[in-house]
Amino acid sequence: MSALQTRGLGIRFGAFDAVADVDLTLEPGARQALIGPNGAGKTTLINLLTGVYRPSSGMVRMGDQDITALSCDQRARMGLVRTFQINTLFPSLTPLLSVVLAIGEREGLGATWWRPLRRCTGLFDEAHALLARLRLDAVAHVPVAELAYGKQRLLEIALALAARPRILLLDEPAAGVPEDESGELFEVIAELPADISVLFIEHDMNLVFRFSRRISVLVSGRILTEGTPAEIGSDPRVREVYLGSSHVATHAGAAHG
Ligand SMILES: Nc1ncnc2c1ncn2[C@@H]1O[C@H](COP(=O)(O)OP(=O)(O)OP(=O)(O)O)[C@@H](O)[C@H]1O
Ligand SMILES: [Mg+2]
Repeated sequence: MSALQTRGLGIRFGAFDAVADVDLTLEPGARQALIGPNGAGKTTLINLLTGVYRPSSGMVRMGDQDITALSCDQRARMGLVRTFQINTLFPSLTPLLSVVLAIGEREGLGATWWRPLRRCTGLFDEAHALLARLRLDAVAHVPVAELAYGKQRLLEIALALAARPRILLLDEPAAGVPEDESGELFEVIAELPADISVLFIEHDMNLVFRFSRRISVLVSGRILTEGTPAEIGSDPRVREVYLGSSHVATHAGAAHG
């Protein structure tokens, strides 16, 4: 059974079909890229998957459950978690406290939970383990504002992981990250637990072809095509509408799919 599936999913803003007739499938353990030009509807599609928007048509299923009518919170509690295209961190908090807060939130500890904080060693152990997995252990006590931007974006993934997702949707996790840091960021994504299904939006074809095992191409709100990196890299339609160059083909050689 697939982890996440949409059928005929679409949303209209006025007379404009931002997303239309999307059949998207995310398998368990997926490392799937969602690509497409600026304004193609990628973020809007994520907003439909997470319940930020109610679709004008179609449905979203998680496992065998129809979640189309569920709220963001309900979906998150089921393990459908996302990160944002734009950084949403608290600049003055440390990574450790940020993750501890996120775990506390998952545990439903409420507004006063921090009072017996020193007794919550389990929380801190879990937070340290999570930071280590994301290669953030060395900067656990450095205020977020002082971290390299690539580390900040890793922290956003750490906060998403604190919710114990089964499905993780990453909206341009490497946006704004210098090129020498984005490779490491995607290495960490590739090493996430195998049972988490990951869908990521990314514009850098080099990263897409290195780190995805499937690619879905969205153009003008519709899925143009979907396949392995090798299939997408050799698809002339993708080159034509998405890049208007031989860029995709150039990187297809590096694909492992
Ligand atoms: N709430 C909204 N109301 C009206 N139009 C919207 C709304 N949200 C998105 N759109 C429009 O839908 C289209 C798709 O936007 P979206 O942000 O999903 O694109 P994207 O593929 O994520 O682009 P980018 O690569 O630049 O992030 C755009 O034309 C955008 O202006
Ligand atoms: Mg976007």
